[in-house]
Amino acid sequence: MKEPIPNHVAIILDGNGRWAKKRGQPRSYGHYQGALNLFRMAKEAKAMGIKVLTVFAFSTENWKRPDDEVDYLMTKPVELFEQYRDRLSELDFKVRFIGRRDRFSSALLEVIESIETATASHQGFELVIAADYGGRDEIERAFGHRLDKNDMQGSLMQPLDVDLLIRTGGEQRISNFLLWQLAYAELMFVSVYWPAFRKRHLKNALKAYRKRHRRFGGLT
Ligand code: IPE
Ligand code: IPE
Ligand code: MG
Repeated sequence: MKEPIPNHVAIILDGNGRWAKKRGQPRSYGHYQGALNLFRMAKEAKAMGIKVLTVFAFSTENWKRPDDEVDYLMTKPVELFEQYRDRLSELDFKVRFIGRRDRFSSALLEVIESIETATASHQGFELVIAADYGGRDEIERAFGHRLDKNDMQGSLMQPLDVDLLIRTGGEQRISNFLLWQLAYAELMFVSVYWPAFRKRHLKNALKAYRKRHRRFGGLT
């Protein structure tokens, strides 16, 4: 029997700062290790048969953090994405970014757009990175004042409903992630910090997901 694998997994990558602090390191080190872990885990997700992985990397509220942390989070990825651009092509991932783009530097915008273009034709697995993303911002942008449920889904930056949401770092909240798309997602909160999250944790989550009974409001 073929085991059901969630089509779309979303992860709130939380706990970078606490992970680093526990090791006597600056928070930025946690963000760096967290970013490396993102590529590692995307590869694992693809190998497990997941089709779409949407990850929350920076929220519209994360600008409230101290300037040095925000600076790091906005500049380090330029370097990392540049290093990964060719590898992403080889890995056959499609990479897409959701969120606001008007507050990014031109260097960050450039690398984001070049990754999207370089991977646009890849099929089979998509990594969606939510950066300067807010669920409320997404809904406001999609509809402004008019709210027509019929074209709602198509106007969103991430039109796919989430099957499984995992949040690392132990907090049990959504923090303005995919508000609309999480309506019937199975939720899993794990205490492990994101930089320490590995293949076995994802496997365990998928195993637990298989035991969940999704009813979507019905009785079957
Ligand atoms: C998640 O880790 C990454 C971002 C929000 C950018 P945190 O930076 O929130 O780490 P903790 O939760 O403070 O440990
Ligand atoms: C949620 O984590 C946002 C991301 C992981 C990008 P936060 O650390 O910002 O969430 P709160 O502040 O604990 O709710
Ligand atoms: Mg956090």
